[in-house]
Amino acid sequence: MKKITSETLRSLYLKFFESKGHKIIPSASLIPENDPTVLFTTAGMHPLVPYLLGEKHPEGTRLTDVQKCVRTGDIDEVGDSSHLTFFEMLGNWSLGDYFKAEMIPWSFEFLTSPEYLGIPVEDIAVTCFAGDADCPKDEESAKLWLDCGILPKNVYYLPKSGNWWGPAGTTGPCGPDTEMHIIRNHAEADKLGEYDFDNAPKGTFLEIWNDVFMQYNKNAEGKYEPLAQRNVDTGMGLERTLCILNGKSSVYETDIFENAIAKIESLTSCKYNESEEVMRAFRVVLDHVRTATFMIGDVKGIVPSNTDQGYILRRIIRRAVRFGRNIGLPQGSLKDVSKTIIDKYSDVYPELNKNSARIYEELEREEIKFSKTLQQGIREFEKVAASLPEGGEIDGVTAFHLYDTYGFPVEITSEMAREKGLTVDVKGYEAAFAEHQAKSRQGSEGKFACGLADHKEETTKLHTATHLLHAALKKVCSPEIEQKGSNITEERLRFDFNFARKLTPEEVAEVERLINEQIELNVPVVMREMTLEEAKAQGFTGLFESKYGAMVKTYSIGEFSKEICGGPHAESTGVLGKFKIAKQENVSAGIKRIKAILVKN
Ligand code: ALA
Repeated sequence: MKKITSETLRSLYLKFFESKGHKIIPSASLIPENDPTVLFTTAGMHPLVPYLLGEKHPEGTRLTDVQKCVRTGDIDEVGDSSHLTFFEMLGNWSLGDYFKAEMIPWSFEFLTSPEYLGIPVEDIAVTCFAGDADCPKDEESAKLWLDCGILPKNVYYLPKSGNWWGPAGTTGPCGPDTEMHIIRNHAEADKLGEYDFDNAPKGTFLEIWNDVFMQYNKNAEGKYEPLAQRNVDTGMGLERTLCILNGKSSVYETDIFENAIAKIESLTSCKYNESEEVMRAFRVVLDHVRTATFMIGDVKGIVPSNTDQGYILRRIIRRAVRFGRNIGLPQGSLKDVSKTIIDKYSDVYPELNKNSARIYEELEREEIKFSKTLQQGIREFEKVAASLPEGGEIDGVTAFHLYDTYGFPVEITSEMAREKGLTVDVKGYEAAFAEHQAKSRQGSEGKFACGLADHKEETTKLHTATHLLHAALKKVCSPEIEQKGSNITEERLRFDFNFARKLTPEEVAEVERLINEQIELNVPVVMREMTLEEAKAQGFTGLFESKYGAMVKTYSIGEFSKEICGGPHAESTGVLGKFKIAKQENVSAGIKRIKAILVKN
């Protein structure tokens, strides 16, 4: 096997598929577009779903890329040798182009050819779909592997739980997959029958690549119907593959983290591998700072907050601060660690360098905020823990107090509790949280979703004005502007959006002029229901709570504004009065806020 760096692996992969007629496309944002069912991009195929469903991709039918991904299901596991919240996925796609007969030989060639990964054939095991009542056994893939030269004893079969890939939701394109594994323990592997793969002791095999053959669409009744367009979707985890190729025992020990580890060692008096406990703290800091760096530095960069993506970001930064303290990482160091990460990736992800000032600022701000209360919070926690019997439970109100007063996300409290053999009443915490929110909330705080809780006439008019404002900002300031928050009362609208600076007086005047022009034209506001795909194809924008195939409401104001939205709206723009921007505010480095009013004519 070849020893290679992350840079070499990325370029070998892309070069290989380019030589097979693929177009290299850039990584999409970490924040999915118009898909609130998941907070982050979790696989290379995720941003390509519309194309897998039949939309034409401008680059053609053969694509390859390296996609940045975040998976947040196992944050508390980060610290062991294998878990990461951020990772890169190497992938290639056939959009109704080639299928199994091309893909499997290519996978074989990339894995075994001395020009590429050079893995000995006898070290590769593959798994194929075993078949069930819905879909037949994938003998075709198995035969293709055997024809390539994979040893018959190294071909295994798994049921849907192991060899099937479906969409994140319950319906959509799916199909059997075939996975490639490196055999780490031949003696154990040789004991297994072809259906026993899952009975192998841990560490016998290490998964390296997954080829998904999308040939079915799971419909709303749960039936698998053959897809008109058969696709290939593959995914190879960059970190894991590097770790295996270089014979490392942990994904943290590849070239990716080398400089960051050296940095942490220089900032503390600890050595990465001096003990299990220290190593765990290093890994938490490494992973979480890397993920936070990519989240903040993304083209759709996010900032720490108390909801959705922002909450995950807050939670991981705070967890990094807590573990950093355990190894004596001084306050303000997260940005120094982040710098080594940015340097390592700057050629591949130029957005990190471009947004470095914002990354450092947000990391530092959040670190300082949490550091202020961390010691006190830990003391409070220790007091509570000491008062409980062995195996006791921290009640919900106390957990909420630790969050509200000391900024401890409940997941961190739960983790600290586990370290002491205690548990947390998370349901009780949620109830305390909800009660607090109900008390402190006036009206409805529309975060991302478009749609009004209050249907009074004035509020409805301001809602329509919000759509006009959104569209005007895109035209005057940047097409990349998106709604990041909206709150409407009877008196005013409030609109948060991604933009680096406040608007100039000229821009304010132009935005107002464009909106008032639409008002004077008395344009009807037209509502139409259509499928999500149609809405996207027709250029409607918006964040909404629906799955592919679902019907959505769209509102258009001539060609000026087209949004997916729950409504309600004014019938036409003429009733709005005169639009005026009342105030601009800074929410955070990348997010600005406009408050605006409608003056009666
Ligand atoms: N979409 C497949 C995966 O994530 C390739 O494993």
